Amino acid sequence: MPVTPKRRGRAQPKAPVPSTGHEWDGITEYDNPMPRWWLWTFYATIVWAVGYMIAYPAIPLVTQATQGVIGGNARSQVAAQIDSFAAANAPVREALVRTPLDRIPADPDLMGYATNAGAALYRTWCAQCHGAGAAGARGYPNLLDDVWLWGGTMEDIHLTLLHGIRDPADPDTRYSQMPRFGVDGLLDADRIEEVAHFSLSLSGAPHDPALAAPGAQVYAENCVACHGPAGEGDRSQGAPALNDQVWLYGSEPQTVARIIHDGPYGVMPAWSDRLTEAEIRALTVYVHGLGGGE
Ligand code: HEC
Ligand code: HEC
Repeated sequence: MPVTPKRRGRAQPKAPVPSTGHEWDGITEYDNPMPRWWLWTFYATIVWAVGYMIAYPAIPLVTQATQGVIGGNARSQVAAQIDSFAAANAPVREALVRTPLDRIPADPDLMGYATNAGAALYRTWCAQCHGAGAAGARGYPNLLDDVWLWGGTMEDIHLTLLHGIRDPADPDTRYSQMPRFGVDGLLDADRIEEVAHFSLSLSGAPHDPALAAPGAQVYAENCVACHGPAGEGDRSQGAPALNDQVWLYGSEPQTVARIIHDGPYGVMPAWSDRLTEAEIRALTVYVHGLGGGE
């Protein structure tokens, strides 16, 4: 039924609104048209969507999506940005390759670039073995300290990175091999235990003096050639010092005995086939600058 206005001055009531015919419990649903602003916004979104599909990559096809007429997508933009950074850095990369290794530290521009690039490369290629912070792990040397197996000058590190250590794929790799004293029957279990305790005694690490005493003779006969009379090690063979507190494989007597029994054989891949000379030099500068560089 028609509604009577309650207050004066208000517009006359509209004609009764048609109902959709839906009714529940005395409540009917009006069949009002959509508000005009809503309808136009809706049409605008349709137009926008069609335009977007034409302009940008959108419709999936068999191998890739339609490319869009403006020809740009986030992926190609990133690729273009990477190319432009690479082009911008080309001169400094060339300078890095040209400059003799020992003169790089004197050049702040080269050092800045190499240290940053080296840090990024380190995270990609080296962190999985040497640790995110370069502190190493059992069998993987710590690169932060000043203890080096093969040497810590720029030249030494550069050579290690280029050719790796015991990498069978690189003929110029750094190579040496400690005998497998137990596996190959060079020493029996008792001699191995004795010389393990003697090795630990060289640095004052916890050991059994009663076993270490006879171990001295075993050491003199089998180990001096590589590890030196006082256990000072030999970098030309990558033989670690045994008279310091740093243990690549661990300092528990049974670990040391196992190493002597099995013969350690740490392998570090060569990088010259995977990284450019500029990248290897950036890594050299970065590792050298970690704290232990010589
Ligand atoms: C697959 C594991 C692995 C990866 C990856 C790796 N290393 Fe090594 N790295 C080793 C091992 C193992 C040694 C020790 C080899 C040995 O016992 O003589 C080593 C040794 C080194 C040494 C010699 C340390 C010394 O005391 O003389 C340097 C320097 C080094 N790595 C740097 C790097 C850099 C830089 C990268 C990244 C480009 C890298 N390594 C990637 C395993 C790895
Ligand atoms: C031909 C040279 C050579 C001889 C001989 C040799 N070693 Fe080694 N030793 C090495 C090399 C090289 C390594 C490191 C291997 C690696 O990095 O994987 C090593 C590693 C070790 C380690 C591990 C050190 C650590 O920091 O964890 C111990 C312990 C050791 N040797 C003890 C001995 C004892 C004891 C003898 C004598 C019975 C001996 N070595 C004889 C070359 C030699």
